[in-house]
Formats: sequence, structure tokens, C-alpha cells
Amino acid sequence: MALKKIVILFSGRGSNMKSIIEKLHGQKVDVVAAITNNKEAPGIEIAKKFGITVEILPHTDFGSREAFDKALVAKIKEYNPDLTVLAGFMRLLTPIFTENIKAVNIHPSLLPLFKGKDGIKESFLSGMKVGGVSVHFVTTEMDSGEIVAQECVPILDSDTLETYTARVHEKEHDLYPTAILKVLDIKKFKT
Ligand code: GRF
Repeated sequence: MALKKIVILFSGRGSNMKSIIEKLHGQKVDVVAAITNNKEAPGIEIAKKFGITVEILPHTDFGSREAFDKALVAKIKEYNPDLTVLAGFMRLLTPIFTENIKAVNIHPSLLPLFKGKDGIKESFLSGMKVGGVSVHFVTTEMDSGEIVAQECVPILDSDTLETYTARVHEKEHDLYPTAILKVLDIKKFKT
């Protein structure tokens, strides 16, 4: 049976994309393309290294959010994926995207707590003894949408923001591939 197809959207470092490619590509899913809105994203080299087709679609080439989303939707549809995976894709999306594309996102906090770009730091400074990571369906509201998978990361008394951040990313790299399989309904639990 043919592998299910995913398209990955990213804007930066691409460490989640790397983990998804390493754990799933060619075995459990086919990563048919990686699309970025940032032509300087370090993730571009990572995707290329794995032989993944990279598409660069700078949002700055478009006059409005809607115009960008329309082009993005058209680009994704060229690849006809079963699922679109946001991995550090730093864009709010309009209904043009959400009404046409089934997508998931990963966020480095225990949603619905600490939405937004400072999820790790706000978790760390909250006084809570656990933070975590969440995978959720994408809606027009930032870091909202039904939660698909979620795991805790302890915040240790000995942690610095750096040590906590490193453990959060490690947890993300574990959880996201598993959650993608769950959504694709290939396999329910651990990869
Ligand atoms: C991750 O922490 C993810 O949760 C958030 O953006 C970051 C992306 O990191 N949405 P990377 O580009 O995957 O390394």
C-alpha cells in the first residue's frame, strides 16, 4: 500500500521537521514537500540533505495575508497530501487556509496555557512544576484547535531556561512523529 503523504511547513531551524523526516519518511509516511515562507530558514538545508523537495514562498511577496494563504493552499494542493504538518511555521492563518487544508501544529506548552511565541519561557517562569508540549489541529486562532496529543515536561528546581528548553525540544521531537501517525491513523501509539 502506498505511504500516506505529508507536506511540512516551516519558517526557521527545522529541528522538528528533521525528527519527522528521520523517524517517518520513507517508512511510515512520504514527506512529499517542505514549504517555507522564509528564504533564509536554516531548515531548508536540512530538508534538502534528506532529498525532500523544498518550496520557498516568501510571504513578503504578497500584498495581504489572504493572498499569501491562497498561494500557499494552491502550492500544498499540488502535492495532494493526506495531512499538512506545521513545524515552526510562524504565520497566523486565515479561513482561506483552514477551510481548505487539514493541518496540525506543535506548540511548546501545555495548551491552552501559554499560547504564542514565548510558550517555553512563560511555562518556565510560571511557578508550575510541569510544562509540556502539545500537538493540535490548526484553526485561525493561534495555538488553538482540538488537541491531538500532549505530554508533560517536568520543570526541575535545578533547571535553567536553557536546560528546560532543551528537554522541551527533545519531547517535541518524540511526540510529533507519533502524533502525526495517530492523526493519519496508521498506528495509535509510539513509533
Ligand atoms: C518549536 O518549539 C515548536 O513547538 C514551535 O516552534 C519551534 C520550532 O522549532 N511551534 P524547530 O524549527 O522545529 O526547530
